[in-house]
Amino acid sequence: MDSAHFKTSPQTPLPVVATGENKRRVFIKSFGCQMNVYDADRMADVLAPEGYDTTNTPESADLIILNTCNIREKAAEKVYSELGRLREIKLDRAKSGKETLVAVAGCVAQAEGAGLLRNTKTVDLVVGSQSYHKLPELLAKVRTKQRVVDTEFPTGDKFASLPMAARERVQARGASAFLTIQEGCDKFCTFCVVPYTRGAEISRPVAKIVEEATHLASAGVREVSLLGQNVNAYHGQGPNGGSATLTQLLYALADVPHLERLRYTTSHPNDMSDELIEAHKYLPKLMPSLHLPVQSGSNRILKAMNRKHTHEEYRCIIDKVRQARPDIALTSDFIVGYPGETDAEFEDTVKLVHDIEFAAAYSFKYSPRPGTPAADHKTQISEAVMQERLLHLQSLLRQQQIAFNQQTIGRTVNVLVEKQGRMDGQMGGRSPYAQAVHFNGNISMIGTIVPVTITTLMPNSLTGLYTP
Ligand code: SAH
Ligand code: SF4
Ligand code: F3S
Repeated sequence: MDSAHFKTSPQTPLPVVATGENKRRVFIKSFGCQMNVYDADRMADVLAPEGYDTTNTPESADLIILNTCNIREKAAEKVYSELGRLREIKLDRAKSGKETLVAVAGCVAQAEGAGLLRNTKTVDLVVGSQSYHKLPELLAKVRTKQRVVDTEFPTGDKFASLPMAARERVQARGASAFLTIQEGCDKFCTFCVVPYTRGAEISRPVAKIVEEATHLASAGVREVSLLGQNVNAYHGQGPNGGSATLTQLLYALADVPHLERLRYTTSHPNDMSDELIEAHKYLPKLMPSLHLPVQSGSNRILKAMNRKHTHEEYRCIIDKVRQARPDIALTSDFIVGYPGETDAEFEDTVKLVHDIEFAAAYSFKYSPRPGTPAADHKTQISEAVMQERLLHLQSLLRQQQIAFNQQTIGRTVNVLVEKQGRMDGQMGGRSPYAQAVHFNGNISMIGTIVPVTITTLMPNSLTGLYTP
């Protein structure tokens, strides 16, 4: 399954919005999770009134923003290789008299701050994830030949100060959209940088989210994926002034005209309430997919990770979810080689995967992150052992993914049509289970939901037949 959950891979370029002759251009490259994809769009929205159009080539950009991820060492290292490339582009453009500003945004910006300016001359601006609404004033400062760092964690809601996307920008982005409803994390798993790079948990008010979703839906969006590092810990201000749960928010969004599908990610097992599980049974617009990271099947490792749940509790949640929605596509995240993980403890993870049968999952080798408690642990696992465990786990997960996708063959599923396929007369979209589906059709179908009978399993997608 080509799952909707992206991890630390470069994202597809932003859609290019038509450029006038004297306009400035911004190129934004995002790494990491979906929240960075959403943030990239919001940065483009805040820059649009400043005269910036988006471009998908850095060579044609007056402003280049690297929207970075710090989750694992490899992700963080990418920033420096990208900056090397951008240095050349900046020099080339300078030769023809063109100025190029380079900004580093996102979680590496937040973690390294001024260190990024010391390490490279290419960077003009370092902007943390809570300061995007200040981009115009920060860029004005940069233009007075200062190098600027802003990695504050302001107390206010940054989203309250970000403009909504213009209608044509929403349309250019397609029928499925991300919408961040919650940011930050208070859980402090011992391996993870997110609580340090995104700060404390903040939830947006229900009214603001409904307003944004209504705006998106009126411009053609049919599916919204609600985002948060701990999305099910959502506790934003509700209509009566008290705090609302994610379930209440989902029910409020189900009333937004023209919005047909709702998803949410990423959830934490400890916040998987019974009412949220029940919503999977009673709320038809809530799609049958759930991303619920477990990380490990060993209780000792889970305790060392500060996950505060056992594998038994995780299994119990999955049982309840499957009772509510038997066909749900379950996905998860795993870390292999957490410090001190024994062969037997790794086998506990393999057993859990065997028992649960996931539709897809991400698995990672443990990567020590500076400043996190696990990084100082004395019994780090060797690269060779981690690699062996990862390959073993990934091969099992791959088999389960194929088995899950095979179950859809012969079935007719509703597909939200998102784009043209590579071949003539072919369209692409997503099934309720977030599988990528290709089928016969035409571009007038974009933004509609059509029944497609699945015929073939491809390596990363399904092929099917649409019969009008
Ligand atoms: N908030 C989500 C996801 C956070 S990051 C959650 O709690 O599950 C996404 C995934 O990256 C995590 O689920 C974890 O599997 C992985 N990850 C985080 N830190 C890591 C590290 N130091 N090394 C390897 N993988 C890591
Ligand atoms: Fe990281 Fe844990 Fe928070 Fe997820 S819950 S973002 S893994 S600290
Ligand atoms: Fe990466 Fe930051 Fe997301 S560290 S995974 S971009 S929250």
